[in-house]
Amino acid sequence: MTKAKIAPSILAADFSKLADEIKECDSLKVDWLHLDIMDGHFVPNISFGPGIVNTIDKLTDKFLDVHLMLSEPEKYFEPFAKAGADLITFHIEVHPDPLAHAKVLKKMGMKSGLSLNPATDIEKVLPYLEHFDLLLVMSVNPGFGGQSFIESVIPKIETARRHIDKHKLSTMIEIDGGIAENNAQRVVAAGVDILVIGSSFFGASDRQALTRQVQSLKRQP
Ligand code: DX5
Ligand code: ZN
Repeated sequence: MTKAKIAPSILAADFSKLADEIKECDSLKVDWLHLDIMDGHFVPNISFGPGIVNTIDKLTDKFLDVHLMLSEPEKYFEPFAKAGADLITFHIEVHPDPLAHAKVLKKMGMKSGLSLNPATDIEKVLPYLEHFDLLLVMSVNPGFGGQSFIESVIPKIETARRHIDKHKLSTMIEIDGGIAENNAQRVVAAGVDILVIGSSFFGASDRQALTRQVQSLKRQP
């Protein structure tokens, strides 16, 4: 049995009191913090850069899971690594052959993640999973928080989980977009290890209850 992890997406935090939001994540003992970086090109929105990541790194010892929604992510591996990222994820849609970039991240001592959009076939990423620490399955079209979960990603998670188990890989599966208490159990049953939760975490009436609910979920084996 593997216990699920929760990674609040800071994009949905109240930036006017960012330090308090981070401290609350710490005291709730969330597992990771998910940081969404958008360039206004790969996705139709702009978020924040290495400066804010570094500010967050100074506020907490939490594992920083940096999701690059950028057209040229490799240009920014170094700045985000220096800012305090522990894991850097980029998208297969911008690098159909992502192996070289996985190697660059490994050389930097950085954990690596590969992501795919809802419209991208899971078969496109399977051959590369052995080179990555994480597969990030997008369950909304990236760019904005607060969108509805796209149900058709469930079979993609199941396919990735079968592949990872069959080949005895250590690659973790993370889900991102539209996750809330009503679908958390289902995605874990499909094979997810880490749940990114943005608006449903920061908008929750009881963040502690949500955190404990997610952390109590277990998947087989
Ligand atoms: C979407 C981002 C997500 C987003 C999740 O482009 O990658 O991480 O912040 O937010 P919710 O949980 O609100 O869908
Ligand atoms: Zn994200």
